[in-house]
Amino acid sequence: MIVEDDVKKILIAYSGGLDTSCMLHWLKKKYKAELYAYCADLSGMSLAEKNKIIRKGLATGAKKVIVEDMRDEFMRNYVFPALKADAVYDGEYFMATAIGRPLIASRLAHYARKYGIKTVAHGCTGKGNDQVRFETGLYSLVKDVEMLAPLRFWEFRTREEEVAYAKKNNIPVSAGSKKYSLDENIWGVAIECGRLEDPSLPPPADAWQWTGGKLKKRETKITLSFRKGVPVAVNGRVMKPVAIAEKLNALGSAHKIGRADIIESRIVGIKSRELYESPAAKIISAAHFDLERMVLDRETLHYKEKLAKDFSLLVYNGRWFSPLREALSAFVDVTQKNVTGSVTMVLRPWSFEIISRVSPYSIYSRSLATYAVGDKFDRSLAEGFIKLSCMDIAKRG
Ligand code: ARG
Repeated sequence: MIVEDDVKKILIAYSGGLDTSCMLHWLKKKYKAELYAYCADLSGMSLAEKNKIIRKGLATGAKKVIVEDMRDEFMRNYVFPALKADAVYDGEYFMATAIGRPLIASRLAHYARKYGIKTVAHGCTGKGNDQVRFETGLYSLVKDVEMLAPLRFWEFRTREEEVAYAKKNNIPVSAGSKKYSLDENIWGVAIECGRLEDPSLPPPADAWQWTGGKLKKRETKITLSFRKGVPVAVNGRVMKPVAIAEKLNALGSAHKIGRADIIESRIVGIKSRELYESPAAKIISAAHFDLERMVLDRETLHYKEKLAKDFSLLVYNGRWFSPLREALSAFVDVTQKNVTGSVTMVLRPWSFEIISRVSPYSIYSRSLATYAVGDKFDRSLAEGFIKLSCMDIAKRG
């Protein structure tokens, strides 16, 4: 429970958008507290964009605005664990947003401790998943912190009311009404609301944020190399995680790869219609799984597929910092010991095809698999093997 008079300082998860800008102003008025605004850059802002957010936050009433580039940490400690686990929600969603929230929560926890702040606010609505992820994330990292979600109880019901409040209070808002609600980071973009709310209609062309440009028709052949389950090089060139994601997002977007249009089952019990674009996630995940099929023994591979489902549910549900997620990640890391090698694929308009793979840890044996000369497989073992293994269901007598 928040006791209004006790709130001296508030840390805000801030983006500089309409919701969090109004929230900043509104909180200052209501609680008369010192406000600290925190913004994690997970998609790569220019210096000008960064400065704009800082200026805007200060002008709206923050005492301090922190913007930090967290892309490298995001890729290494959030995206890669999910990639290694082959975590995908409901078959299509690579969970860019869901993976980003715990990182933001951990930075909020850090700054709450640093500045001795006991109240942390976010700008999520009462209907979405992100409120669950921010709050669960923070509560699992720090004691003695209360989270505040003004959008669940303030007086504004619509965007128009927020715009009116912003105008009245000289809060800078970007011109033009927004058609969709977006959440974007280096692992993908999520698009919802507006005309997408009728799932019987196809998405308008302007809904696609990354893949809506000119279609690249000529094929692109790429080789992606992995070391212990994470991508380390493209076409033989060693690159940092952020650079790999950016390169594959650019290439994949040009080929319009990585779109999804799904009805999603939210944590709070409702269905929503969402679009996703995640070209790099789609390409890297497919290559990763392809390599796993070659280097993992059958049992581990299949066990891991079951685990992927549980892992993705934990992540989707905001339970990143739970003992179970950490234990599953530890298991996954053991399985990735030999997921080293290269996968070659051809990117085409709208899709791609994996055409070859090599690994020093491959357990594919050509001499066992071949139907040609050099076959080392002992065929005589098959008869007894089958009779024994089906004894329990074979007709007797
Ligand atoms: N439905 C997705 C999730 O819960 C994406 C939410 C992104 N937010 C947005 N404003 N579009 O992970």
